[in-house]
Amino acid sequence: MIDDIRLDGSEPLQQQLYQQLAARIIDRRYPAGSRLPSSRQLALDMRISRNTVNAVYDQLKAEGFLQSRAGRGVFVHQNIHSGELQHGKRPLLQPEASASLPPIPELKGNRYDAAGDVSLAFQPGLPDLDAFPIRSWNRILHHQESRKILRGYDSTQGYPPLRRAIAQYLCSARGVRCQEHQVIITNGAQQALSLIMDVLLEPGDRVFSENPGYRGARYALASRGNPVTPVPLKEQVLDVDALPALGAAKLLFCTPTHQYPMGGILDISQRMALLRWAQGNQTWIIEDDYDSEFHFYNKPFVALQGMFENTPVLYVGSFSKTLLPALRVGYLVVPEPLVEHFVLAKQASGGESPLLIQATIAEFIETGHFTRHLRRMRQLYRDKWQHFQSRIAEELGGLVTPVAESAGMHVVLEGDFNDVELSSWLRTRGFGSTPLSSHFFGNGSRTGLIMGFASASEQEIEACINLLKQRLESGTTTG
Ligand SMILES: Cc1ncc(COP(=O)(O)O)c(C=O)c1O
Repeated sequence: MIDDIRLDGSEPLQQQLYQQLAARIIDRRYPAGSRLPSSRQLALDMRISRNTVNAVYDQLKAEGFLQSRAGRGVFVHQNIHSGELQHGKRPLLQPEASASLPPIPELKGNRYDAAGDVSLAFQPGLPDLDAFPIRSWNRILHHQESRKILRGYDSTQGYPPLRRAIAQYLCSARGVRCQEHQVIITNGAQQALSLIMDVLLEPGDRVFSENPGYRGARYALASRGNPVTPVPLKEQVLDVDALPALGAAKLLFCTPTHQYPMGGILDISQRMALLRWAQGNQTWIIEDDYDSEFHFYNKPFVALQGMFENTPVLYVGSFSKTLLPALRVGYLVVPEPLVEHFVLAKQASGGESPLLIQATIAEFIETGHFTRHLRRMRQLYRDKWQHFQSRIAEELGGLVTPVAESAGMHVVLEGDFNDVELSSWLRTRGFGSTPLSSHFFGNGSRTGLIMGFASASEQEIEACINLLKQRLESGTTTG
């Protein structure tokens, strides 16, 4: 049976014998239940010590390859093929195994996203990476790196100085009413959304979401299999008047201060109506305040969360746009009675956020760098926005219709073309964008491109506009 085993001087004998025996059992060359020579016999045949053979047999027994039967010898384990998935070369997930998994929620844009997460100019949501004050950041990072206290574990809820800095910032800049113990640090806004689902959703609960809306939110909202109902927009903002006809919901996701992607801003009377509706229907509002720092001419509206005491609002924010997406740090502000639930949910789904990064952000805020950086970026993005708008008007008039609000980091160019195809084509030319149609769900959709101008230089704006002009004029992407 073991005539085909060859040992040489390349590796320790014990290791070679182990590997060759295991490989033959996995390949079924030594079938389940077949008998192996005694250790004495094998040692003689292979001209190696009996201790070496015994050690290999013991290991193979411990791993379930072999079994001893009292008084009869050593055999290939009877159940070896049920253990095959652990040791074998077959793919771990057989195609038919996925049939027993719950279905992936049907969402437009899923496949598109697989290739979409790259840092290309015009990628929506991407800040100007070159404008990041990397020297000051590195200095602070280096300072924090040397602190022993940051090398171990810390609080799941988040590094206290960072929670304190965020609470102060949100109170003064966004009118959020919170104490630091209501702030939970998350791995990006995305984890904040996911935690909300963990804590608040029960099977069958209905969830409402703006339509069109942020796809990252919809992925989270739909992830537990709850029905997600689209709420239409009116004049580029959530149509608050449409809500009463839609019935009850446990959660409503919205971007009141800069609707994503259409850019509208919910005015004060609509905000009041929305809060009234939520209070009357026992609905939690998820307020995604993802880019309010970049309102160019007016101070942004105070956050919904802070309009009154005890609003039914879960406030979500992120450093992805104000600092860098790669940091993966966001935050959630929740009413006091919910804090513990959220911390437990976070503990269960990944635990703490990276401590060194949290400490670096905290010092970056405390020492005034954050405010300075935001001031500079607001000016920079305003200039880019103006330039982009005027080049669109000059070159793409009649081909696209810009849907522009004087805020944020992206512009939507609506038009009657195949937006999925155009966006993929632009990607092959080195420019990011997302198709507007992929942000719609339910019935009805419109086409266009969402262009994140914040990440684009003047040359890139020029090059991309020229490409779009040629492509749209050639009619290759008509809808
Ligand atoms: C509407 C909206 N919310 C939130 C985020 C931030 O997400 P994260 O913090 O997970 O990077 C983005 C990023 O693109 C966004 O567009």
